[in-house]
Amino acid sequence: MTITIDDAVRLLLGGEVVALPTETVYGLAALATDEAAIAKVFALKGRPADNPLIVHVASLDQLALVAIVPATAERLVSDLVESYWPGPLTLVLPATERVPLAARARLPTVAVRMPDHPLTRLVIERAGPVVAPSANPSGRPSPVSAAQIACALPVPILDGGPCRVGFESTIVTVDPPRLLRPGSVTLEELREFAPFTLGDDVIAPGMKHRHYSPRTKLVAFAHDADLRAALAPGIAVITFGADYPAPTIAATPESLFTVLHDIDSQSWDAVYVLLPPATGIWRAIRNRLEKAAHSLR
Ligand code: TXA
Ligand code: MG
Repeated sequence: MTITIDDAVRLLLGGEVVALPTETVYGLAALATDEAAIAKVFALKGRPADNPLIVHVASLDQLALVAIVPATAERLVSDLVESYWPGPLTLVLPATERVPLAARARLPTVAVRMPDHPLTRLVIERAGPVVAPSANPSGRPSPVSAAQIACALPVPILDGGPCRVGFESTIVTVDPPRLLRPGSVTLEELREFAPFTLGDDVIAPGMKHRHYSPRTKLVAFAHDADLRAALAPGIAVITFGADYPAPTIAATPESLFTVLHDIDSQSWDAVYVLLPPATGIWRAIRNRLEKAAHSLR
């Protein structure tokens, strides 16, 4: 069922869960201060309790309600916020007591971002900060259109059209500066602000779980020659431009999740993909493919 902005505000204030559009992927939103609604988000997604949620704000006043900017990182946070908000950069900061422990998987920190979608900004301005994990059942590809949610979860949806970026936000800590999840704000760009290092996956607790997977067997290859040698009838190749002597499925960074949704209706025995290099935004695409693949060769 699709809903209006007014409906979304009313449902959130009434303790319900709604799907909201963002520039990255659709989120499954609940009021960030409503423990019962947050429990519904975990239940609907089948999300492990040790995987914390991102809080979405519409203003710096709302940021101050949920997070504390450490004095040691004031300059870096203000530079990042000024450069990227609203937009696809999530900051992990010490949490205020207003953020229920369940939302942050009992961590002392909270992940926060200001999404860049006009409809959702209006909803959050009126309803208050919301938690919003990607609006997919846990483990499945993130939705980048309302239709992809409608066939997977029984929730009211504010349809904001297709998502512009198409994959989830970059997540960083600021003290020390570390990249926890790559996104369209790249490591190279972030290093112009501070000496960001690569955090290992365990720091973003959610990254250890399997993610983004289609039902069709997805095999990711590190080397093109190995992929070509393994081609056989019944196998298709997701390609970001290269040609293969096999059926190919053209993808771009923006369309990757749509491709991962669509291949399940195409009855391939398996789908192969060559991992792109870990540079620029391709680092994010490589990361999502590594998490989505049923095997890595
Ligand atoms: O683009 C996005 O970020 C989308 C849209 C809806 O905003 N949201 C999203 O949420 O991708 P989700 O729940 O699918 O991913 C949240 C990630 C998880 O990997 C989680 O472990 C990490 O954020 N995270 C949340 N709180 C954290 C914290 N306090 N410390 C470290 N990582 C955290
Ligand atoms: Mg997700």
